[in-house]
Amino acid sequence: AHLWRGVIREYADRLPMLAGAPIVTLGEGGTPLIPAEHLSELVGAQVHVKFEGLNPTGSFKDRGMTAAISMAAKAGAKAVICASTGNTSASAAAYATKAGMTCGVLVPDGKIAMGKLSQAIAHGAELLQVAGNFDDCLTLARKLAESYPVELVNSVNPARIEGQKTAAFEVVDVLGDAPDIHCLPVGNAGNITAYWKGYREYAGVTGEPAVATRTPAMWGFQAAGAAPIVRGHPIDEPDTIATAIRIGNPASWKQAEQARDDSGGLIDMVTDEQILAAHRLLSSREGIFVEPGSAASVAGLLLMHERGAVPAGATVVCTVTGHGLKDPSWALKTADGADIQPTKVSVDAVSAAAALRLEG
Ligand code: F0G
Repeated sequence: AHLWRGVIREYADRLPMLAGAPIVTLGEGGTPLIPAEHLSELVGAQVHVKFEGLNPTGSFKDRGMTAAISMAAKAGAKAVICASTGNTSASAAAYATKAGMTCGVLVPDGKIAMGKLSQAIAHGAELLQVAGNFDDCLTLARKLAESYPVELVNSVNPARIEGQKTAAFEVVDVLGDAPDIHCLPVGNAGNITAYWKGYREYAGVTGEPAVATRTPAMWGFQAAGAAPIVRGHPIDEPDTIATAIRIGNPASWKQAEQARDDSGGLIDMVTDEQILAAHRLLSSREGIFVEPGSAASVAGLLLMHERGAVPAGATVVCTVTGHGLKDPSWALKTADGADIQPTKVSVDAVSAAAALRLEG
């Protein structure tokens, strides 16, 4: 059996930046690309879901964090810092601990999911809840990294993009070529930048040996209340239930537009209702439990299908970026927002069978 060794070792020949760095890994990457039969039927295409919630800390951030922390270790860093809507802080905290570094995280007060907060604390990060949104946190983190001996591990750190591009490699390695369309949620816009870099490199566009014959159209989706790229200006008070992508001024804005334009793709937006409907469809029909922000890719695909924009029979990959256990409370509500309560029964087969509506 082939044992997965983490993205830096698996793709060493494609990650020249990491050459000679001490590798800090938790075995990230190698996540499943799951054929989604129900979704495929709904949109008339071959849809696959790249389930990034199965990374060590439950999100795609681990791909970038193994690279960023390895580079920080190479530079002799003792401390790292990041701004985060939650997943970056969980990942940074885990990889920093693994490397014996201290980790400071700046999160927007009250706007991060419980699972993520719990991870950062469990891994021993110094956690500061900032009276502001993610964009304020990132501004503050950048200032601290400029003036103090601490390494910034947000996706403005080029090592993060290098690590995250490996997800595109994995898609091609499994499908045998690039898909026609790749759908992603967009927040700070690092991931769409990373995938596009990976797809271009694997298609030989940048001079590396070609594995794929083509690149996909990149389809990015922001939450409607936090859609600066779609609206064409920063959003001062971004708002969405998808706290992971509650971002009003993405750091990689220009790169996201370039990925969109160079790939012949699009960046559009989906409402919280559409996000929650896709979240429910994934869990109840595909067996895949994601956090709400992750479902923006699938919500976007469904929206584009409604508009007649999904070519019949196209190969489509939707990345779902984080695990449902990060923010599980959404599963306990109906579409109308009512609480779902488990049925209580006594230790009695007849009443249990009745509650389960089993035939005698
Ligand atoms: N999905 C999830 C689950 C995320 O946590 C994020 C970003 C995104 C999508 C968007 O990715 O920023 O590269 O466009 N989370 C960051 C964080 C901002 O701090 O955890 P992006």
